[in-house]
Amino acid sequence: MAIINTDLYLAQQFLEHSEVIAIPTETVYGLAANAYDESAVAKVFAIKNRPLSNPLILHIGNPAQLYDLAHDIPEVTLQLAEHFWPGPLTLLLPQKHTISDVVTANSSLVAIRMPNHPITLQLLQRLTFPLVAPSANLFGYVSPTTTTHVERQLGTRIPYILEGGQCAVGIESTIIGFEAQDIIIYRLGSISAEAIAEVVGPVSIHIRKHSKSSLTTPGSTLQHYAPHKPLFIGDIPTLLSTHKDQKVGILSFDRYYKDVTHDHQVLLSPTGSLGESAYNLFAALQKLDAMEIDVILSTYVPDRGIGRAINDRLMRASFR
Ligand code: TXA
Ligand code: MG
Repeated sequence: MAIINTDLYLAQQFLEHSEVIAIPTETVYGLAANAYDESAVAKVFAIKNRPLSNPLILHIGNPAQLYDLAHDIPEVTLQLAEHFWPGPLTLLLPQKHTISDVVTANSSLVAIRMPNHPITLQLLQRLTFPLVAPSANLFGYVSPTTTTHVERQLGTRIPYILEGGQCAVGIESTIIGFEAQDIIIYRLGSISAEAIAEVVGPVSIHIRKHSKSSLTTPGSTLQHYAPHKPLFIGDIPTLLSTHKDQKVGILSFDRYYKDVTHDHQVLLSPTGSLGESAYNLFAALQKLDAMEIDVILSTYVPDRGIGRAINDRLMRASFR
């Protein structure tokens, strides 16, 4: 079984010897390897059961590393990096050939972010290479926000999990790309279109809709983040009547519903906070998945700010 520890030196040793380990970030735990080491990168795909067609995000400890990895970096990118890094914003930029095509799945773009977690920033700053780090879950399953979640899914497949507590944000980074003069949001996260607009001024920002295939826009496939149990979203009383012959669990925003034991209901935020809901979302899905129930019934949360990213993940979790 994986060792779970806060020892940075040990983390560094594993990474320098082509091993794959789990690391904390402010969004979710990542499955990390030396981005310049093709054999270590290949292990990441194998450990996650991830198709080679789905590229990996690079993590850096210093914004200046952008220039080692990408070329033709738009001015607006630098403004965004300066404002949001370290933080949950991933930039899609033209790839330099310092990075293997295995990392980018033969796309001409590379995804890069500087995560905001004190331990992982220290680790990145000690290393002489960037880290690839997809979320540390098996392909298609819910992302991990605690070391316990990582251990449950990958504990027998990796030697080490760097302990960093529960991830402060709780959902994956916002991914943006640049097309001509426009900014395209490929994945919603805690940094909203409005927050980006505030920094870059009058640039047009589009949110790219999901596609069933990953070919057109990697990162936007619908089937993602899904618990094993079927999940239905809507008005809970209506869902309860359509599922009245089944054992149900409820994922609720801020209140309990009658006719279902409280043990089978998980509240995202009793005080109605969207930030707290994001923080609790993936743990809540995994908790419900482990219950003795047949189906998970869920509400959407208010569709504003980070609530939009939460609803996006719920919608994907319900996709079959
Ligand atoms: O918050 C996060 O971004 C977390 C933490 C660990 O940093 N990482 C994460 O990685 O969510 P992952 O691999 O689970 O999701 C990254 C998404 C994938 O869906 C992938 O298809 C897309 O980013 N992506 C990565 N590189 C890309 C590229 N070169 N072009 C287009 N999409 C890319
Ligand atoms: Mg993922």
